[in-house]
Amino acid sequence: MCGIVGYIGYRDAYPIIIKGLKRLEYRGYDSAGITLFDDSSTVVKTKGKVSDLEQTAASHDNKGKTLGMGHTRWATHGIPSDLNSHPHLSNSGKIAIVHNGIIENYAALKKMLSDNGFHFISDTDTEVLVNLIEFIKTSQNLKVGKAVQIALTQVVGAYAIAVIDADRPGEVVVAKLGSPLAIGIGKDEYFIASDASPFIEYTKRTIYLDDNEMAVISREQGFKMYSIINDKVITPIIQDIQLSLETIEKGGFDYFMLKEIHEQPHAINDTFRGRLLVDQRRINISGIEHNKEIFKNASRITIIACGTSWHAGLVAEYLFEDAARIPVEVEYASEFRYRNPVINKGDIVIAISQSGETADTLAAIKLAKENGAFVFGICNVVGSSIARAADGGAYTHAGPEIGVASTKAFTTQLTVIIMMGLRLGQLKGTIDNADFDRVAKQLAALPKLIESVLAYDKQIEKIAREYKDASNFLYLGRGYNFPAALEGALKLKEISYIHAEGYPAAEMKHGPIALIDKNMPVVVIATNKGHYEKIVSNVQEIKSRNAKIISIVTKGDESVKLLSDHVIEIPEVTEALVPILASVPLQLLSYHIAIMRGCNVDQPRNLAKSVTVE
Ligand code: AGP
Repeated sequence: MCGIVGYIGYRDAYPIIIKGLKRLEYRGYDSAGITLFDDSSTVVKTKGKVSDLEQTAASHDNKGKTLGMGHTRWATHGIPSDLNSHPHLSNSGKIAIVHNGIIENYAALKKMLSDNGFHFISDTDTEVLVNLIEFIKTSQNLKVGKAVQIALTQVVGAYAIAVIDADRPGEVVVAKLGSPLAIGIGKDEYFIASDASPFIEYTKRTIYLDDNEMAVISREQGFKMYSIINDKVITPIIQDIQLSLETIEKGGFDYFMLKEIHEQPHAINDTFRGRLLVDQRRINISGIEHNKEIFKNASRITIIACGTSWHAGLVAEYLFEDAARIPVEVEYASEFRYRNPVINKGDIVIAISQSGETADTLAAIKLAKENGAFVFGICNVVGSSIARAADGGAYTHAGPEIGVASTKAFTTQLTVIIMMGLRLGQLKGTIDNADFDRVAKQLAALPKLIESVLAYDKQIEKIAREYKDASNFLYLGRGYNFPAALEGALKLKEISYIHAEGYPAAEMKHGPIALIDKNMPVVVIATNKGHYEKIVSNVQEIKSRNAKIISIVTKGDESVKLLSDHVIEIPEVTEALVPILASVPLQLLSYHIAIMRGCNVDQPRNLAKSVTVE
């Protein structure tokens, strides 16, 4: 997720773009850049935040240029660096582009362009796109607007782009598919941005481009909108938006955490985009493909992580042993690093971390590598310390997770883990095609299924109101749902400060059941996969102790429903996917309880987003 800002009009573009980029830093902040045009273009870009860009740009003449665009990056292809920062220029230096999104088929396009004499200085998919535009423009002698339209018909992926061509310095071309793009319509001036926050103080008149729409914005001809698919002219719909700056940054949600809960369908889609190839019965994770033999010959896997990421590791344990028959152990990184573990050469150690900066996980990686293990990282931050320390890895494409409580990072970690389980099963020959296809198809359908669960928000808010004053909660689950129960409990305690404990449901009778009475709400993940009849009897056990029971069940369930005080139904999916779906209502339950208790869900007390100390 990146932020783009553009301007064409009569004002100095520089201050508008810089201030606009600062408002979009919640979308990504690992590097930033700007290009300004009058009769020639200057491009300034740097690793770091927009304030670093400002320092770098201070030595340039930024005044009097009334056309320009800028970018603040969240790296997906290519680590954060000056070279990988946007804007990117075409080989001739004439065409500049800023891009938010992912070009899935960039490798094939890059090869075609290389075969046609193009060269590349960055590792990004965006540099491929700007040179594709140049290739089409020059080889077919077209204006840049037409070249962009043709180029985008050859692109697979997601984009919100702004393109400026030095041959046509009075115009900017924009286009959108899958990533947001808003156009502010002023008097003799136009603003371009990933959301309206950079231009809301100048104009409220806004056009939100829809997918497969593009526009050419020029001083002479104003705003002209087209279909990318067939180049037909489109009549724009101008909205008069009445949103505060803060509301816009949070996407209209009250808190980043709620926004990120609702971003999960998009984040999961971005995470499996280009990797989950259902029709080809293929998983394409380069970090695995480049280390196929290591995974094929693995005698055991140790997973190291902390907090929510450790819960994701537990799901991986169930799945990898189930699908690939590889022995898996999951360890708290903070314990692993100090207990003198047995690590043998050729062991695989998987480190899971959203931030990629967790000190305990980093130290555990160092210990594993010193003992000859192959380390595979699953991180959300490209170029983070853990990503760089690992021998290979796979990024989640959740985009920046601002809320301290992990939500979309967890479900995108599980998305990567499910894909890995499928691929490892194929490599080991332990998963048949029917099972592969079933799980792959359901994974591909997950974004829509999550949307259907998010629709229960009001029902969940009502449940939250009934239990917001509880002092303790229990969260129960069996099998894959045990880690989901742990994660649900962590969500509640870290943002509402209510004590909550996750437990394997069958373990209740070994002590914790003594805690249960009418004041103890018990959340049970009791979906119909796995040992369903066992979980039903566990629910009966707690029911007979007068607990208040909140159940997450499979749509259409009748048995658990009869025993529960509240039921939240989720669509039926294979067992390995339940933790992703079941986590969504538990995230919402925790969010609403915390809000009702007056807690700051984005910055809970005592917590940090990234624990870079021991
Ligand atoms: C979870 O909501 C917390 N933010 C915390 O447990 C977090 O998962 C843990 O600190 C690990 O962080 P990491 O994934 O960035 O390594």
